[in-house]
Amino acid sequence: MRMYDVIRKKRDGGELTRDEIRYFAEGYVNGEIPDYQAAALLMAIFYRGMSEEETAELTFAVRDSGERLDFSGISGIRADKHSTGGVGDKTSMIVVPIVASLGIKVAKLSGRGLGHTGGTVDKLESIPGFRTDMPEEEFIRAVNQVGAAIIGQTRDIAPLDKKLYALRDVTATVDSLPLIVSSIMGKKLAADDDCIVLDVKTGSGSFMKTLEDSVQLAEAMVSIGKRAGKKMMAVITDMDRPLGHAVGNALEVAEAVDILKDRGPEDLREISLILSSAILYLAGKAGSMDECRLLAEDAVRSGIAFQKFEDMIRIQGGDPACIRDPALFGKAPYEKEITAASSGWITHMNTEDIGKASLLLGAGRNTISDVVDPLAGLMLLKKTGDPVEKGEPLARMYTSDPERFAKAEEVYVQAVRTGQEAPAPVPLVHRIIT
Ligand code: URA
Repeated sequence: MRMYDVIRKKRDGGELTRDEIRYFAEGYVNGEIPDYQAAALLMAIFYRGMSEEETAELTFAVRDSGERLDFSGISGIRADKHSTGGVGDKTSMIVVPIVASLGIKVAKLSGRGLGHTGGTVDKLESIPGFRTDMPEEEFIRAVNQVGAAIIGQTRDIAPLDKKLYALRDVTATVDSLPLIVSSIMGKKLAADDDCIVLDVKTGSGSFMKTLEDSVQLAEAMVSIGKRAGKKMMAVITDMDRPLGHAVGNALEVAEAVDILKDRGPEDLREISLILSSAILYLAGKAGSMDECRLLAEDAVRSGIAFQKFEDMIRIQGGDPACIRDPALFGKAPYEKEITAASSGWITHMNTEDIGKASLLLGAGRNTISDVVDPLAGLMLLKKTGDPVEKGEPLARMYTSDPERFAKAEEVYVQAVRTGQEAPAPVPLVHRIIT
């Protein structure tokens, strides 16, 4: 087989066979196929797309390119939740303790923030002492003992994805449906879960800006997960405005704690409860999503979900005192308000740019080696649909370096549009795909 022929076949709209996909995947991962040929194939895939069969084969090739986690030592039903990435999305820190408090095991591998999106690992690391790099045996022991643990993807999982993602990033081929599906699902399938719930974001803060694209992405991922024998559900949720009020690492942990204490922003609570219900339903905890939601609500109201989060933090070496009293996180040394330039309603928030404003304050990273500032970020005081008066505060910025304020404020102000009429309400959950 020659890589030249594989590229030409895809360029001309042909369907690649399993052997051709494996030939490319194995050759690229072991360095026999050079970047320039891989880049040419990626661009051909970008333009020509892939059939469901091809996408599934590429996904399985990503999964099989590295180590696979063995969760057979974990007793009970194992579930995972994955978000396609957003701004202010702290749902993992809420959903994981809720479902674990109801007996579902969650051995979760999470990512770090990159670009405008945040990552659960960075957020959890703002808790003093919290370790996200446990060895596998300790991780499994922690899950068996308290029901859940969340660590970073430090092991050699899906090296094909690491190489391909880096190449996509510099060849304008990130936003290709089969490439996104194989990247996300290849990594998810390398873990050993029974049920997977996908939170597929849609809108200006997500990879998929239109509902139509998000539905296609969700359907493709659900279908591939089922082929691999998993129970799957995707919830398409709104990311045309940030989720909750907090954007930034410790700020988001504190807001997640608020929800676990049965208070906090309504949109975050709602999406967290729906995702929890979806996991509980797939895991067979009750016969309908509505019944599962009641279980999840009860877990929050009774305090068992909060207790579970505390147990999880303790077993991962973190100091639970600061989730009992988030004031112990401390405050960024500098804060500044952004005020409204005119009266009216907030009609739109370019959510990707709000993520960038938070990054500019120090809460995110441009390259994987950047160090995040745990206390930096934004508190959004007004969101899409809220009325504002001229001069009223829109958001509060936090940073350790006051020189960062000017640029972050400029980006934030550009991202928020006001008008003279209230915008039509947008649903938080657009669709559920089973
Ligand atoms: N997240 C991933 O892991 N991969 C993609 O391609 C897009 C989002």
